[in-house]
Amino acid sequence: MNAFIFDLDGVIVDTAKYHFIAWKTIAETFNYNLTESQNENLKGVSRSDSLDLLLQWGKKVLIQEKKNMLLNQKNKHYLQLIQEMGSEEILPGVLNILDFTKNNNVPVALGSASKNAQLILGKLNLTPYFSSIVDGTHVRHSKPNPEVFLLGAKNLNTPAKSCVVFEDASAGVAAAKTAGMTAIGIGNPEELKAADYVFESLEQINISLLNKLAAI
Ligand code: BG6
Ligand code: MG
Repeated sequence: MNAFIFDLDGVIVDTAKYHFIAWKTIAETFNYNLTESQNENLKGVSRSDSLDLLLQWGKKVLIQEKKNMLLNQKNKHYLQLIQEMGSEEILPGVLNILDFTKNNNVPVALGSASKNAQLILGKLNLTPYFSSIVDGTHVRHSKPNPEVFLLGAKNLNTPAKSCVVFEDASAGVAAAKTAGMTAIGIGNPEELKAADYVFESLEQINISLLNKLAAI
């Protein structure tokens, strides 16, 4: 039996739009105009690494204290934006796959860069599906480093080669492959070339592939 490890943002729920609004507001404070296409590069990237990228793009240098202030400000705004979020925002196909794992006793972990992951899973009423939640508060290295997925595999007592990762970010697919796992890319095949399979949405994964992925 294999184990499944899910990324959160962009796989289970579309939080990218809220991260974008919050980062755009921060970028405006130093007169940088963050575009939607530039925001693509922030997918899967940790909060502090995202700010460093924004500052680099805006050619702005700040002392750590000021950076910490902006990080707090960004997260406060983001938390306001997701305040009303509920299970209606779960992306298509997610519940089907999670129910499949539950009915077939497939071990499931979350592998997310977000420090808000537990809060978000709770808002979506999905926490009970996960035997292990590894998030941005548990790891030192951001994706593409495989740490987050290796820790998930360890918590599930499953060898890395028996883990299947669902990811929407190329950094996440790279992390899964470096860990020696099977990577399912959700999104644009051009951006997720390194994945073993790519689908536009989790909805497209049928039962026979699920059985194969879970090695049932
Ligand atoms: C990732 C998102 O899952 O988590 C990134 O794709 C985000 O956009 C990162 O920056 C960190 O999230 P948070 O909630 O800790 O700011
Ligand atoms: Mg993601």
